[in-house]
Amino acid sequence: MVVETGTDLVLSDSSTPWDDVDEDPAVVVVGLGTPGWLDLVRGCKSRWPLTMIVGVLTVPDPQAWADAEDAGCDLVTTRGALRKVLPARLAAWAKSPGGKKLRLFAMADIAGRLGLVMRLDEEATGPVAVYHIGSDVVAVQDLCPHAGAMLSNGEVGVDDGVVTCPEHGSRFDTRTGERLRGPADLGLRTFPVIIEDGQAYLRLDPA
Ligand code: FES
Repeated sequence: MVVETGTDLVLSDSSTPWDDVDEDPAVVVVGLGTPGWLDLVRGCKSRWPLTMIVGVLTVPDPQAWADAEDAGCDLVTTRGALRKVLPARLAAWAKSPGGKKLRLFAMADIAGRLGLVMRLDEEATGPVAVYHIGSDVVAVQDLCPHAGAMLSNGEVGVDDGVVTCPEHGSRFDTRTGERLRGPADLGLRTFPVIIEDGQAYLRLDPA
C-alpha cells in the first residue's frame, strides 16, 4: 500500500481496507484482478462511503469492468488512461462531494418495457423509482411528499410520464418532478440518469 498525503491518493496491494489510514481518503485506487480485489472494493466502499473508489485494469476486460462497478467502483479505467482520466473525474467529484454514480442496467435489458423498471430503497437519498418513459429513463424520489406513500405503487403514463399517487391521487411529472395536482404541496426530487455505452447509470448526490 502507498499513501500519498499530498494528493490524498491511496494505492492498494492489500485485500482489506487499512487500519492505519486515519482520515477518509479522497481516492482509493484498486488494481482489478489482484487477489481479493472484489472484497477490497466492497470493504472500501463500506468503510469510506464518500471516497471515490477507482478500479484499474491492466488490460480491458468488460466482465471485470462490470463487476467492479457492481461492487462499488465510482470509476473504472485502464492503467494507461488513469493519469489522464482521474484529474477530470476528481474535479467533477469535488463539486458534488458524497455523490455517487450507480450502474442500473443495460438499456437492452429494458427494451420494450415501459413504466416502472427499477426501485432502489437502500440509498442515503431515500427510495428512488426509475421509469422508462418513451425513449427516456428518469428517476425520482419514491415517496409522495403529501403523506409518504410509495409512488412506484401508483399508475404511471408510459407516454407522458405522469405518476398518480396510489393513496390520495396527487400527480407528478416524473421527467421534471413537477407537482401537477394535489393534495401534495411539493414536487418530487429528480436524479440524473446517464446513458453511456448502452448502460444506464444513476447519479445520486446528497440533498
Ligand atoms: S400520500 Fe400521496 S397524495 Fe397523499
